[in-house]
Amino acid sequence: MLIFENIESIQQHLFSIPVEKSIGFVPTMGALHEGHLSLIKEAKENNDVVVVSIYVNPTQFDDLADLENYPRNLNDDLDLLQGIDCDIVFTPKSEGIYEKSISSTRFDFDGLENQMEGKFRKGHFDGVGTIVKRLFEIINPTNAYFGEKDFQQLQIIKKLVEKNDLNIKIHGCNIFREKDGLAMSSRNSRLTKSHRNAAPFIYHTLKRVKKMFENYSENEIEKWVINEFNGNNLLSIEYFQIADEETLEKIKTKDFNKKYRAFIAINAGDIRLIDNINL
Ligand code: PAJ
Repeated sequence: MLIFENIESIQQHLFSIPVEKSIGFVPTMGALHEGHLSLIKEAKENNDVVVVSIYVNPTQFDDLADLENYPRNLNDDLDLLQGIDCDIVFTPKSEGIYEKSISSTRFDFDGLENQMEGKFRKGHFDGVGTIVKRLFEIINPTNAYFGEKDFQQLQIIKKLVEKNDLNIKIHGCNIFREKDGLAMSSRNSRLTKSHRNAAPFIYHTLKRVKKMFENYSENEIEKWVINEFNGNNLLSIEYFQIADEETLEKIKTKDFNKKYRAFIAINAGDIRLIDNINL
């Protein structure tokens, strides 16, 4: 496994790979878990060379405490990556990635950025767009892999590729969960024991929503979900939205030609958790 911190060095190495070989790319912020590894395994199955990046991107954090407390354990990450035979790891530093100042570009993602996470985390998707575009420029992958765990991010990256006419195929990968249903996340390690025990209720509720979607209206479901969390003193709801998968806009009337998904953001003490389910 090759590890590069320097942009010129990784590019020099990537240039030496014959053009007919495919490069699969998985961008991450580290603190790797089975969810990340499932993306990397999928990349390995379908590409000649796999590159994983590890970089905690400051411009996508709207909350300084969240950035400071974000788990970082590079040595454990490298061991995990070695264990699954990853080819190349890219661990850039801010100085190389952000040339002049650590700031993000404004993006227009045709309104995808104004829904859900975009409403509650100001500037988040400008930060994500800036870093992913920069990483795509450096790595120039054939395929790139993103988790449905961050479904809005996945749709935004597809839009970024489309609008910038990039020749990269974006693949969405299933949400990887703990045995009790909690979606794996780097932030889970920061949950207190009681919040960790309470957290599977999020997916449990989403599964009930999926069943209810057949027979109940969106408004009835929304009211029911809010009521469920009002009765829970460890988990507080930030938003719940049933949305069209393509536009991410809140569902108006059910159209059987469209795909819908339920999205939720929860505060469990100081930790913010998101999840979603296809309906
Ligand atoms: P990070 O949160 O580290 O996630 C890296 C990738 O792993 C993302 O595509 C995310 O959706 C996916 N992922 C996380 N948990 C998952 C799970 N339980 N199941 C499946 N996939 C999962 O997302 C980011 O980093 C950053 O925003 C990044 C794209 C790297 C830009 O900085």
